[in-house]
Amino acid sequence: MVSHAIEVRNLYKIFGPRGGDYVDAVKNGMGKAELNQKYGHVLGLRDINISMPAGGIMVVMGLSGSGKSTLIRHINRLIDPTAGEVLYDGVDVCRMNENDLREFRRHKTAMVFQKFALLPHRTVLENTVYGLEIQGVAPAEREKRAKQWIARVGLAGFENHYPNQLSGGMQQRVGLARALTNDADILLMDEAYSALDPLIRVDMQTVLLDLQKELKKTVVFITHDLDEALRLGDKIAILRDGMVVQQGTGQEIVLNPADEYITAFVKEVNRGRVVNVETIMAPLSGNPEGMPVRSGTVLEEAARAMTSANQTLAHVVDEAGRPLGALSLSAIIAAMVTSASHETKAA
Ligand SMILES: Nc1ncnc2c1ncn2[C@@H]1O[C@H](COP(=O)(O)OP(=O)(O)O)[C@@H](O)[C@H]1O
Ligand SMILES: [Mg+2]
Repeated sequence: MVSHAIEVRNLYKIFGPRGGDYVDAVKNGMGKAELNQKYGHVLGLRDINISMPAGGIMVVMGLSGSGKSTLIRHINRLIDPTAGEVLYDGVDVCRMNENDLREFRRHKTAMVFQKFALLPHRTVLENTVYGLEIQGVAPAEREKRAKQWIARVGLAGFENHYPNQLSGGMQQRVGLARALTNDADILLMDEAYSALDPLIRVDMQTVLLDLQKELKKTVVFITHDLDEALRLGDKIAILRDGMVVQQGTGQEIVLNPADEYITAFVKEVNRGRVVNVETIMAPLSGNPEGMPVRSGTVLEEAARAMTSANQTLAHVVDEAGRPLGALSLSAIIAAMVTSASHETKAA
């Protein structure tokens, strides 16, 4: 399947009747509070620049009101920007004509909502075929495709159930099956899992990660939960007051939080699930010792593998099996419990 990146460039959104008049003021440093007090306009987004990886999961994180929904709604242009662009395949979504936009929305994007947005009087199957119905796909074909995806999200046998006969987690699976049945390249998930119970939520994260291994959609996933962000995100952007305060991989953010606010956020994180073995490996001296551990393996996984193989030494290898550095179980455990590198430097 072909996948495509989404480039958000210099994007501004100022809510209010004359938003455009205040872009310069915001560019010159006017903040959200001042804009609101002086001019009665709301700063939604300020100079957002994010390259969302093709075929990867882009997580947008931030507290309530930070601009996450405003940002994701620009990607299928449910919101028009005040300034800036959103490029997909080199085309600015914000400047598409009505016809191109309709085609783009219908064929390239699918949304998964927090409140599932299932039609109550339609069965699981009827909900799932909905997008294909709108696209005019013939009934036999659309049911065939929908049934595949219903099975793929673990709901085989529930095709004729109604939403109110399903648990929250199962309803969210229907939402996912419906989005996947559209066969869109871009999946937009706005706090899709935020209403689910913690265990169900972790289940749904696993469903998404398993599907993603194979499908490689360009996913934009919004959450206010750091654990969810770290588990899912190939890349994470953190928003505050409509601005990106940091973006990077989970490991980059946990090891080098950009400010106090993010430091506070990442303090409680289990580093063993985020930090890679190559971050802490030592230079090789002589022949590599112990068992090989693939680069990219997180500390917790490496520790588990070494413990069950009854080894205290290991070496990191690249995908070709070439040794990159040395590891010891004690160094891994030390790195899992000590704080981020910048804190060490500051001390
Ligand atoms: N249609 C709108 N009109 C005015 N202000 C809005 C509108 N939509 C969102 N906002 C404001 O923009 C900011 C960002 O909102 P939103 O994107 O919904 O945040 P989040 O999804 O992170 O909770 C908030 O201050 C919100 O009140
Ligand atoms: Mg929101």
